[in-house]
Amino acid sequence: MKPEEYGIMFRAEDGHWWYAGMEAITRALLDRRYQPSGKLRILDAGCGTGAAMTGFLAGYGLVTGFDLSPVALRFCQQREAPRLVNASTVDIPFASGQFDLVTSFDVLYEQGVPDDRPALAEIYRVLAPGGRLLIRLPAYDWLRGRHDRAVQTARRYTARQLARLVRGSGFTLEHLTYANTLLFPLALIKRLFERFTPQRSQRSDLAWDPGVFNRLLQAILSLEAPIIARTGLPFGLSVVAVGRKNE
Ligand SMILES: C[S@@+](CC[C@H](N)C(=O)[O-])C[C@H]1O[C@@H](n2cnc3c(N)ncnc32)[C@H](O)[C@@H]1O
Repeated sequence: MKPEEYGIMFRAEDGHWWYAGMEAITRALLDRRYQPSGKLRILDAGCGTGAAMTGFLAGYGLVTGFDLSPVALRFCQQREAPRLVNASTVDIPFASGQFDLVTSFDVLYEQGVPDDRPALAEIYRVLAPGGRLLIRLPAYDWLRGRHDRAVQTARRYTARQLARLVRGSGFTLEHLTYANTLLFPLALIKRLFERFTPQRSQRSDLAWDPGVFNRLLQAILSLEAPIIARTGLPFGLSVVAVGRKNE
């Protein structure tokens, strides 16, 4: 990710519709499997600037976060994240079987992850038997746009590719769904428009302030949460999977 994007992400995490809506979706998926009892040992792989690990995830247990970027970790410190490590997904510095849940939100698609398979193997290793992976990634390689250049995307995923990756790493695939489906048509128009117009900004979509539309966009994305948790959605801008390590 370009260094200037960490500050943009840090600010967006507090109130931007995309983060708020994705939190609703993630909570819905977690709540079907866990009581928010605070007992899980959680690892947030690629924790970024730390809002998830210090925010809603902390309600489910003791969260440890790691990220490749020292810049990201400095932002996490501003959120007073207590357990932080500078590390890569391809070499996770924890003993095997230590965590009940590993979350990874929009990490494995980045150029900082040269190959996603060793990363998944490492996540599998640090999970306890019966532990779960909750992973979210951007969908469809053909949807690449200016945002992907700013965050240095290496690859985007279809649900089938993510399923193959999760199963191929030894997990039982418990849940597979797209997300951010209702706003898909708008995003598609935006990405196509970008392709045919000269670029004025090199920054990610998060740099755009939606102003009065923020609440509306958040409400639309959050509408998907109960549907995603119960069944799933057939297409969208993100793809989400839950995998379980066998007992
Ligand atoms: C788009 S951000 C997402 C951050 C956070 N998970 C979130 O949901 O806001 C991607 C993060 O992955 C981190 N990253 C990239 N390659 C990594 C790697 N090999 N190991 C650990 N973190 C990595 C980046 O530094 C960045 O913080």
